Amino acid sequence: MIILGLESSCDDTAAALLTERKILSSIVASQEKTHHPYGGVVPELASREHTDNICFVVERTLCDAGIDFSEIDAIAVTQGPGLMGALLVGLCYAKGLAFSLDVPLVGVNHLQGHMASIFFDHPRAEYPALSLVVSGGHTSLFYMQSDSEFEEIARTLDDAAGEALDKMAKLLGLGYPGGPILDRLSGGGNPEAIRFSLPKISSGELAFSFSGLKSAAARVFAEANWKPVPSDSRSDVSIIPEEILDFIASYQKAVVDQILDRLQKALDGRDVASIHISGGVSCNSELRYRSQNFFKNLGVPVYFPNPSLTTDNAAMIALAGARRIEKGQEDSWDLKANPNLPFYR
Ligand code: KG4
Ligand code: ZN
Repeated sequence: MIILGLESSCDDTAAALLTERKILSSIVASQEKTHHPYGGVVPELASREHTDNICFVVERTLCDAGIDFSEIDAIAVTQGPGLMGALLVGLCYAKGLAFSLDVPLVGVNHLQGHMASIFFDHPRAEYPALSLVVSGGHTSLFYMQSDSEFEEIARTLDDAAGEALDKMAKLLGLGYPGGPILDRLSGGGNPEAIRFSLPKISSGELAFSFSGLKSAAARVFAEANWKPVPSDSRSDVSIIPEEILDFIASYQKAVVDQILDRLQKALDGRDVASIHISGGVSCNSELRYRSQNFFKNLGVPVYFPNPSLTTDNAAMIALAGARRIEKGQEDSWDLKANPNLPFYR
């Protein structure tokens, strides 16, 4: 069976073809250049660019795989969560194509797509699992008995981890998306230079919170009277002052510290066979390195998606869609985009 996956929930227009859980081709048209000057995604610009790109992205995906439209057996599309206008572009295209080819259509929850991305490289990742989706829009931790039996045990009370990294890069004048930029620059700084404390959640519940860290860092930045770094520093790191590199490394360390702390607390009293970390921030080199070491000592394997599948892509949507199709969960033509879509079971 050949499944076409489509993703347009935020700022990437993506298509992928999958057969028997293997990727035949996967194309992502990134909008980084469009949103870079604004330091974040501008929803209206995102929708317009999805509209411009979607036909070309799908045609290129088919061409790369040497597959014709007529060979597609089913279409999986991101139904939510995400930006309404952006979701609608992918969904309307998917409906039109599925109708004209007379093939089944399934909606996919974007977070379940990220969770599924682990299984390309680790098809036998064990359950029960702690599954963390950590991206620009989400920081949510689930306890999973299987791919469809789960309970959300923690989420962010304010900003997502990726958002915290993006906002810091914006403050520093480094552009969007901030996560990969800070990841690269952190290697040149001392992560112990500034100590940012872990947020304490007053209710005692397990939760993430990144807005306090962002405010504390903005205070340090203002009190030190630092200025945003010159725009050409992205290509020439040597012009970034050492204290700014230390500041970046300390900030990224604080984000990773919190993620590891919450995962460790979530292990307490739970039967956990493996830990899965997915979403754009799961590409972060410090998070990968430290979590592998940290949980190896506790005897729990940690799985990440292939780095190329951490940020938004359509292969993960096709795989999550394949799981729904196997359960006989086809959708009808009145499938609606839903920015607050709950999980499919
Ligand atoms: O999964 P994704 O593409 O979109 C959402 O579903 O939100 O994640 C994008 C986020 C951005 O915040 C970006 O800064 C972050 O992932 N990101 C990273 C890295 N690569 C992307 N954060 C830290 N380190 C990275 N290497
Ligand atoms: Zn995503």
